[in-house]
Amino acid sequence: MSDLPPFFQVHSGLDREGPGCPADVAWALGQVDLLAKARVCDAGCGPGADTVTLAELMPEARIDAVDKFAHFVDEAQQRVRRFGPRVQVRQGDMAALGAPYDLIWCAGALYFLGVTEGLLTWRTALAPGGTIVFSEPCLPDGPVSPAVRDFWAEYPQATDLAGIESRVTAAGFEVIATRQIVGAPWEAYYTPMQAKIDVLRAQADPALTEVLDECQREIDLWRAASDQVAYALLVVRPKG
Ligand SMILES: C[S@@+](CC[C@H](N)C(=O)[O-])C[C@H]1O[C@@H](n2cnc3c(N)ncnc32)[C@H](O)[C@@H]1O
Repeated sequence: MSDLPPFFQVHSGLDREGPGCPADVAWALGQVDLLAKARVCDAGCGPGADTVTLAELMPEARIDAVDKFAHFVDEAQQRVRRFGPRVQVRQGDMAALGAPYDLIWCAGALYFLGVTEGLLTWRTALAPGGTIVFSEPCLPDGPVSPAVRDFWAEYPQATDLAGIESRVTAAGFEVIATRQIVGAPWEAYYTPMQAKIDVLRAQADPALTEVLDECQREIDLWRAASDQVAYALLVVRPKG
C-alpha cells in the first residue's frame, strides 16, 4: 500500500499533468525574440515536463518553476537537477510571482486564476518587453457537440478562441500568435495515466477506486471527442 493520498497515487510519476508536448514549447519560443540569458518562469509547472524542455531549448536561460503542490515540486526538482542552479523549482503560489521575467510560460494552469485576472496579476511580474505564453481550454468554432460539452462540463467558462482572445484583450494584452493543442499532446497526457489506472485498479481501496473512476471517466469523455477537445496555446504581450 502506498502512503500517498489517492490523488497522488494516480498523479505521480507521470510525465506531465496536462496536454502538451515539446513541439508546443519550441513553437512558442519561435514566436518570441528572447535574449539567450532570458529570465523565464514556468508557472504551475506540475512535474516539470515543460521546465525540462524550456531548459533544453534555452541553455543559458535562468528558469524558475513554481507549483503549489510539494509532491509535484519534488518530482520537477529531480528532473531539472542535471541543469544545475540556473533552473530552480519552488513550492509557491503562481498568483504571487516575484522577479521580473522575460517569459512566463503557463501550460494548463492559468484557468486557476482566470485568464483576465491572471494576466492582470502577472503584468507586474513581466520585464519590459516580456511575453506570456499560456494554454487554455478552447471550444471549437461554431456548434459544440454534446460530447465536447460533456468533456468541459466542469469548466463552464470555456469559450472558443475568439472568447479567449477577448479575455486577453480585457487585461490590456495583445495576442501575438495562437496554436491549437489537439490529438497527440492529449494522448501524451492520458496514455500514461491510463496505464497507471490499469495497474492500480487491482489493489485499490474504496478511496483510491473513487479517484481511479474519476480519472477513467475523464479519459473516456476525451476519447469520445478526441478530435475536438482542444487547448489553445496563446502568445501574448501587454499592449503599448
Ligand atoms: C493541469 S496541471 C498542469 C501542470 C504542468 N504545467 C503540465 O503541463 O504538466 C496544473 C498545475 O497548476 C498547479 N497550480 C494550480 N494553482 C496553482 C497556484 N495558485 N500556484 C501554483 N501552482 C498552481 C497545480 O498544482 C498543477 O500542477
